[in-house]
Amino acid sequence: MHMLKIVTVIGARPQIIKAAALSRMIKNCYLGAVKEIIVHTGQHYDPKMSQVFIDELGIPAPDYNFGVGSATHGAQTGKMIRDIEEVLYQELPDYVVLYGDTNSTLAGAIAASKMNIPVAHIEAGLRSFNKSMPEEINRIMCDHVSTLLFTPTYTGLNNLLNEGFSETSKMPFTPDNPGIFHCGDVMYDNTLYYKDIAFEKSTVLDTYRLEEPFTLCTIHRNNNTDDADRLNTIFTTLNELSRAHKTPFVLPLHPRTGKAMEELLEPGVAKALNENPYIRIIPPVSFLDMIVLESKCNLVITDSGGVQKEAYFFKKPCIILRSETEWKEITDAGAGIVTDVDQEKITDAYVHFKATMHSLKYPSIFGDGNAAGFICQTILNNK
Ligand code: UD1
Ligand code: UDP
Repeated sequence: MHMLKIVTVIGARPQIIKAAALSRMIKNCYLGAVKEIIVHTGQHYDPKMSQVFIDELGIPAPDYNFGVGSATHGAQTGKMIRDIEEVLYQELPDYVVLYGDTNSTLAGAIAASKMNIPVAHIEAGLRSFNKSMPEEINRIMCDHVSTLLFTPTYTGLNNLLNEGFSETSKMPFTPDNPGIFHCGDVMYDNTLYYKDIAFEKSTVLDTYRLEEPFTLCTIHRNNNTDDADRLNTIFTTLNELSRAHKTPFVLPLHPRTGKAMEELLEPGVAKALNENPYIRIIPPVSFLDMIVLESKCNLVITDSGGVQKEAYFFKKPCIILRSETEWKEITDAGAGIVTDVDQEKITDAYVHFKATMHSLKYPSIFGDGNAAGFICQTILNNK
């Protein structure tokens, strides 16, 4: 029997985590049927942004790592396209599997589609309707050259329908006749799978001497880190809010944000943060640590896509430091509020959620925890 050969492209932190769900499914259920080659572009390279996840989540070691590192969009994506193309010529896979909306996703989509290798895009259909976001460009481009598109939410599915994709197209699927499938979110699969393991293994609460209640914050979106006004407003707000509520705010810091803080924080803001015992800036944490922080915090303040969803999985209200969200179901449920970087809105949202958090509802949005199984079977069916 011909084994289905897939090349999975990873590169940024959330993709490494997402890829764990499919790799685990292949190992447990499709070992004789699917051969996975893992290509790491090296977009993220600090051990705490990359290797920690490979070790902790039991992902097979990448077969290739290009080590492209950081650069401008064009330089970084260009190097990735060249290197991915080379691997595809060598491996000649049946499918290339891509996750999300990073430059590694875009590079994989361009390299594979130009070689007429079918692309399976996991986390397809998400839209912010804001093309100033690099991710919006990456995800639209990737969706429109993909053969199989897997949407985590109905909003994602509807976005694809609005862009001309059809739910009734029939096999054989091709880039000109793509198949779209709503299947739930592989990150929900992962959260269910790793939750108990996280509580067995993680020492994050002891390591950082964290006691409940605390608020979990993550900031890394380029328009928040690279804009001095927004960055200073975010940290002024976190500083004042944590003091006003006498609540520790824990911030595992993305390296991008650390660098931006050094360059762009006003001295007064930096001093206030340093002197505030409630502000707990820590290095990026592992996924198991993150699960523990998300499940033990009182609420989440973030501009991350993945962290918004995980807050919801753990039934924690979420303040979203963006002008919109792709995860509209979360705000529709009342469990998330989009505040952008507006001190008053963030402060009001915090007060609102503190008062209402025990009565919030979290209807099921992200599938049944078996998205990876569905994806593997669908790719096999369309070999
Ligand atoms: C990328 C993705 C973003 C995703 C995020 C996940 C794109 C365009 N953006 O953003 O969608 O939400 O990853 O975390 O693909 N850096 C390090 N060490 C690292 C990695 C990065 O120091 O291991 C620093 C570098 O200064 C680099 C900066 O972070 O210039 C930005 O890294 P980059 O991968 O370009 O974008 P992210 O902001 O991480
Ligand atoms: N995450 C992590 N450690 C951290 C911060 C985030 O393991 O210090 C995980 C988080 O739990 C989620 C993913 O990284 O699964 C989200 O990635 P990120 O916020 O970097 O990017 P985005 O989801 O916005 O693309």
